Amino acid sequence: MNGMLKPESFKNKTIIITGGGTGLGKSMGKYLLELGANLVITSRKKEVLDKSAAELEQQTGGKVLAVACDVRKYEEIENVIKETENRFGQVDAVLNNAAGNFISPTERLSHRAFDIVVDIVLKGTYYTTLAAGKNWINKKQPGIFLNIVTTYAWTGSGYVVPSACAKAGVLSLTRSLAVEWAKYNIRSNAIAPGPFPTEGAWSRLLPGDLAKKFDPAQRIPLKRVGNHQELANLAAYLLSEYSAYINGEVITIDGGEWLRSGGEFSHLEMVPAEMWDVLEKMRGK
Ligand code: HXC
Ligand code: NAP
Repeated sequence: MNGMLKPESFKNKTIIITGGGTGLGKSMGKYLLELGANLVITSRKKEVLDKSAAELEQQTGGKVLAVACDVRKYEEIENVIKETENRFGQVDAVLNNAAGNFISPTERLSHRAFDIVVDIVLKGTYYTTLAAGKNWINKKQPGIFLNIVTTYAWTGSGYVVPSACAKAGVLSLTRSLAVEWAKYNIRSNAIAPGPFPTEGAWSRLLPGDLAKKFDPAQRIPLKRVGNHQELANLAAYLLSEYSAYINGEVITIDGGEWLRSGGEFSHLEMVPAEMWDVLEKMRGK
């Protein structure tokens, strides 16, 4: 649960985090600040951003710029890049973290409900990627993208279908540009987190007493949810020069959750030791 990288690993580096005023974006931002980065946080709600920026500066002594930006609006992203360059000189990395999500049987969704999630997650990520990538390429600067996806980006998942479609697209974007833009010295990687408690995710994915009924920790082989610092350590590594040869990768950090749900015999963890004794006696030679 402790920080992992050397102090000052991000000295003179500037990182933009979309959706950086809350939840996991804020936690990853805090650790990057502790490592010496300049931080730019963006989202739709300026008052939330300003409050988080003040809190993060006070906690870490680092510098935080808060810029309101809806990732579905390309000009607003271009403005974030401009403001970042005005304040800190250049952008070194972009963490595509903003998302929208909720649970629902798909047949209950309006087409607008489907659009809203896909537009934030997929369009928001490719707009941000396009604006930042073009800027780096024009200026002949290296750059790093880190995209937050989910483990159902490759398995799919019922009841969060717009999010599953959008995250699958983000994963494909990550892998495609890792190859295409490597010639510009731009790396692209992704992280697929399992459950990490945040107000934003829990209120929308486990509303009411669902959190008690379907305690996510019980599905996870390690029998616990993730700690924000664990995710921050991985994100910082993938945004740092220590991972300079990692490109086009998606790293899962979920305590083994998604593999367990695919394992034909994973449910046998319910079999108690005494029953295994009986089964052992019954088995043929
Ligand atoms: C069905 C819903 C809905 C719900 C909204 N809609 N919520 N439909 N079930 N729970 C529909 C509305 O009826 C409307 O359609 C359309 O979606 C737009 O809704 P608005 O409320 O106008 O949208 P908006 O105010 O822009 O809010 C966007 C949002 C909201 C996505 C709905 O939840 C939000 O702001 N989310 C941002 C943060 C977030 O979601 N964080 C969680 C990320 S967690 P109609 O047809 O009525 O106009 C995550 C974790 C994944 O991704 C993995 C976990 C392990
Ligand atoms: P969160 O706190 O709700 O974060 C989502 C952020 O996205 C918010 O700050 C929100 O701010 C911003 N956002 C939403 N729509 C936006 C838009 N149109 N433009 C700009 N910003 C927008 O939830 P979280 O749990 O930290 O999620 C962070 C990331 O982790 C997401 O990509 C999510 O899919 C991923 N993830 C989370 C978990 C988990 O267990 N928590 C698991 C797997 C993946 P505004 O409302 O102010 O715009």
